[in-house]
Amino acid sequence: MSETTRPSWLDNAVFYEIYPQSFKDSNGDGVGDFDGIISKLDYIKDLGCNAIWLNPCFKSPFGDAGYDVSDYYSAAPRYGTNEDLKRLFEESHKRGLHVLLDLVPGHTSVEHEWFKKSMSPEKNEFTDRYVWTDSVWEEPEGMGCIRGISDRDGSCAVNFFSHQPALNYGFYKPNRPWQQPTDAPGPIATREELKNIMRFWLSMGCDGFRVDMAGSLVKNDEDGKGTIALWQNIREFLDKEFPEAAMISEWGEPDKSLLGGFHMDFLLHFGPSHYNDLFRCAEPYFSERGRGDISEFVKKYLSLREKAGEKGLICIPSGNHDMDRLARSVGGESLKTAFAFLLSMPGAPFIYYGDEIGMRYVEGLDSVEGGYGRTGSRSPMQWDNTANAGFSAAPKEKLYIKQDDSKDRPTVESQAADKSSLYNEVKRLIALRSAHRALQSRGDIEFIYAEKSAYPLAYLRSAEGEKILVIINPSAQSADFSCALSPKEELYSLGGKISFNSGKITVPPQSAGFYLI
Ligand code: GLC
Repeated sequence: MSETTRPSWLDNAVFYEIYPQSFKDSNGDGVGDFDGIISKLDYIKDLGCNAIWLNPCFKSPFGDAGYDVSDYYSAAPRYGTNEDLKRLFEESHKRGLHVLLDLVPGHTSVEHEWFKKSMSPEKNEFTDRYVWTDSVWEEPEGMGCIRGISDRDGSCAVNFFSHQPALNYGFYKPNRPWQQPTDAPGPIATREELKNIMRFWLSMGCDGFRVDMAGSLVKNDEDGKGTIALWQNIREFLDKEFPEAAMISEWGEPDKSLLGGFHMDFLLHFGPSHYNDLFRCAEPYFSERGRGDISEFVKKYLSLREKAGEKGLICIPSGNHDMDRLARSVGGESLKTAFAFLLSMPGAPFIYYGDEIGMRYVEGLDSVEGGYGRTGSRSPMQWDNTANAGFSAAPKEKLYIKQDDSKDRPTVESQAADKSSLYNEVKRLIALRSAHRALQSRGDIEFIYAEKSAYPLAYLRSAEGEKILVIINPSAQSADFSCALSPKEELYSLGGKISFNSGKITVPPQSAGFYLI
């Protein structure tokens, strides 16, 4: 395989994830939109982020909040037109921001024209666009299916919810007559159409894609070899036609995805990464309770880094639209220590909208658009202290999702005015990262102290001769460790002063410090 080209801006990328329905509503219908986002680009830039991941914004019946696409080539009218989206790219670029769209290659909505045509018993261009068995009585093993809704004699595999039929990229090891190999005409046509979709949006000005369920495409593909080969093919196309396009996968196994030519992969709440040990488990490491364990995460992280090689970025998100809000399990000052970690690790950090102000998970909501338990993490952004927290001029009952209506809900306005707020801490941390190569995406990392069930956490980041020691103690107890390194200069400190005493470093409760070595 040829060497993957990579856009240089990824070396210092800090991403901001925008859930378009919930970010900013410009026309008072209760749902966020492109113009709303455009009006807040200065906010994102001012926070220090230089890239955006926009959740799906294409035509859709919204049975899964837009992850059920019914037309890949058109923006969802509720957000605006393709022209508006193009303007969003342009306005972002004027501010030095890059925009990744969310590409959903694994499945469509049942309302997609392709699917409607594929349901026909007569053979046509779309007969092999999806994974169909050849009898309605045969279910595709290990996958859910849709059947009995058309005269085509077959069952169609689904990829996620049962209204999301699986697109056909073939089977790595076909073992039934209806299972096509990856190089059969149907799977190849699906893959080529995916390239057309990418071409369309990249030509319009988007800077790349976050790829949904990127590891799910080829079926019967236990080790991911077929799916990796598929992405390598797409990588060749990108290298040739759009070498500046940035690609990040929702895969959660960087050793596989980066081999497939992705530049970055997420660590996620599923998969083998131990990501949940950090913020989302019974005793998260980043908690004042101080009963967490980060050692398994670190072990796994180091082995993934080794397998992923030098070039690939492993991205640790603050959260996303599928997980509980960070602030649901990590509270108060510990949230600041969580960001001290997130913003000083290698890879590109991803901040889920609102996490920078500690937006809370809204408890007890009914599901909206296939959100179910995820709905509470998708509530509208809290901008200011006006009606609907400045999100929308619509009547409260018309908001896309109910907002956190507690009196002390965090807002950008109140946090910006408070020097000691989470928002200002996040801003400081991003600025520091931007000023030091060692803290950025590709700087090296060596863990100095990450012991089983122990605090604090310490690691050394380095790049181009610069070395920065990072020490973080999320717990409410003071903690110490032995370390021969002695700091030359303090770059950052949070909470009480960390003391260095002939090889013993004592770290006050809920504090952090970054030091030039
Ligand atoms: C991904 C998305 C999630 C969606 C699912 C199906 O995990 O992040 O929101 O429901 O894929 O597309």
